[in-house]
Amino acid sequence: MIVCVCRRVSDRDITRIARQGCPSFDDLQMDTGVATCCGRCESCARDVFHKATQTTVAHCDARPMTADTLASSII
Ligand code: FES
Repeated sequence: MIVCVCRRVSDRDITRIARQGCPSFDDLQMDTGVATCCGRCESCARDVFHKATQTTVAHCDARPMTADTLASSII
């Protein structure tokens, strides 16, 4: 699932990077750009990152945002 539409970052990307030892959400943002544009994905991205660093399975409970929804919220 795409978590960050602006930067095209998926939950798999976040989980992989977290499990590779990314020490903080700030570092994840530096590596991927997640949540650095409109910011609407930040809560979900933080949730996925947090779970990936604490469990073997990351899961996001947030409702996915469609591109149309995102676009209408920006314009
Ligand atoms: S959806 Fe992630 S910064 Fe816009």
